[in-house]
Amino acid sequence: LISTITDMKKIVFRGLLLFAIVALIAVAMQSSSDRSIQDDPWFVPEKFVSMDNPISGQIELGKEMYTVHCKSCHGKEGLGDGPKAAQLDTEPGDFTDENFQKQSDGTLFYKIWIGKDDMLGFDKKLSQTETWAVINYIRKFE
Ligand code: HEC
Repeated sequence: LISTITDMKKIVFRGLLLFAIVALIAVAMQSSSDRSIQDDPWFVPEKFVSMDNPISGQIELGKEMYTVHCKSCHGKEGLGDGPKAAQLDTEPGDFTDENFQKQSDGTLFYKIWIGKDDMLGFDKKLSQTETWAVINYIRKFE
């Protein structure tokens, strides 16, 4: 009888150990896929940051491009609440935010043209003129 009890203790102990390992793995996987953890910040090369916007105005063109290509994620008013936003791994950001608007036109150009993760680069879809026009339009979100 005594040996059966110690055997049972061993089995229970192993079961607990296995459970603890599985739980740890689950927690580790959960946190690595957590959308609130932004461990992958933008890196914008200096030559883009200091790039000048060669276009002023063209707001109508910018609005048209924004409506076709950007609104689905970034939302009508740039709040990041477009219909597609909920399915993304990362938040699209808020274009009315002061810190967003502080970025240079060249920085925004890089982010739109080259992109990162869910924000796919638009180098194949927009001409440079269209991209600068979109930036001028985004400047209207306040
Ligand atoms: C499929 C959804 C999607 C579409 C379409 C999309 N974006 Fe984005 N965008 C994102 C996401 C998600 C991010 C945040 C990426 C990150 O921080 O990793 C982002 C980030 C950005 C940023 C940087 C925001 C910041 O905080 O600095 C800019 C600028 C931007 N998008 C502009 C545009 C423009 C302009 C278009 C259209 C030409 C567009 N996006 C189309 C999903 C999208």
